[in-house]
Amino acid sequence: MEKINCYEPGIGFRNFPELTKRMEEYYDIIFDYSLPDEITPRFVYEFGKKITSRNIFYYIDMLYDNQPENLIDVGCGENIFKRWFPNVIGFDPNIHSYSEQDFVDTFDRDFSEGHTKCYDVGMALNSIHFIPWNFIPDQINLAMNIVKDRFLFTLNFDKIRDKPAMDNRDLIRQVFQLIEKLPYEIVMFDFAEKSHWFYTNGNVQFILSWRQ
Ligand SMILES: C[S@@+](CC[C@H](N)C(=O)[O-])C[C@H]1O[C@@H](n2cnc3c(N)ncnc32)[C@H](O)[C@@H]1O
Repeated sequence: MEKINCYEPGIGFRNFPELTKRMEEYYDIIFDYSLPDEITPRFVYEFGKKITSRNIFYYIDMLYDNQPENLIDVGCGENIFKRWFPNVIGFDPNIHSYSEQDFVDTFDRDFSEGHTKCYDVGMALNSIHFIPWNFIPDQINLAMNIVKDRFLFTLNFDKIRDKPAMDNRDLIRQVFQLIEKLPYEIVMFDFAEKSHWFYTNGNVQFILSWRQ
């Protein structure tokens, strides 16, 4: 399975080179990709470490290649990426006590049709995958509809219903085949061989863009 324009250890951020230093100052542990199994729930809760992976920052940085004026974060949870990147607008249907979300809403067909091309770029990090497998192309189209340029998707297979296969590699290959048929440019395609209980960046990560 081929990866496209994906993150590799040591690559610097293209648009925000100062992020490397900021991340190193803030986080206790930074992994390149998925967290390893030694990061257990007890380790996180007992030791209170701040832990992240570089690859997801790299992919968000890529969204800024064409100088967007704003980035919509669909299902932003705590809205943490707003602290790291400029002009992020995050929304989520759930009001989390610790969230800094900008507004409360649910992403669905109504939201998409009411926000056609409202934002320059967008992302949905493990937030719009609570759907049956066959709905993936429609869900991607609904997400692309709200942006003018690029959108970063991460999908966690555990959350998708009615999957056509059990094997991770097989599902990754099938996701690629699905998105290849859509009328967008695949700016980046990456995947993780296995998921981690704490891995919030999905089994697959991809950026699609409206073809110029
Ligand atoms: C695993 S969390 C990810 C949060 C955040 N994107 C992150 O990476 O930290 C999934 C989030 O998706 C949100 N969510 C679930 N269904 C949604 C929908 N239809 N539209 C928008 N957000 C949704 C949940 O409320 C939750 O905050």
